[in-house]
Amino acid sequence: MDKEQMSRDIDCPALVSRALSALKNSYAPYSGFHVAAALLAESGEVYTGVNVENASYSASICAERNAAAHAAACGERRFTAVAIVGGAGGRITAYCPPCGICRQVLREFCDPSELAVITAVSPEDYRVQTLADLLPDSFGPEYL
Ligand code: THU
Repeated sequence: MDKEQMSRDIDCPALVSRALSALKNSYAPYSGFHVAAALLAESGEVYTGVNVENASYSASICAERNAAAHAAACGERRFTAVAIVGGAGGRITAYCPPCGICRQVLREFCDPSELAVITAVSPEDYRVQTLADLLPDSFGPEYL
């Protein structure tokens, strides 16, 4: 599916709004960089996640992985789209791309050319890419 079609099929502004609403729950006392994600599953349900940092820094988890785990824990196994917002001090001034580990975690539950990754500044200002754009030649469950 091309990105224009994806943008027609998915209510991107609504998904971005869900991520923006979740941002207040980000727990980022160490980096001060607040991130939230809203993940749309094939069922139509939306699952949010925020970054949750830890005094033992490496135990921190990103917003996207938190949203993916939230969805999986609720029984979802196919993801359609994810909207991501983030910025220093919770101020969103630029598109916040998902980190490499989060790209791989999202890969588990989608066809990478079909997962819309929406990075946004506001419901009116966002960019749509596919996971395949961000994680080409990826390794997934079909290899095992
Ligand atoms: N972070 C995310 O939540 N998602 C990303 O994809 C990039 C980074 C978080 C992790 C950490 O809490 C903070 O942003 C700074 O790296």
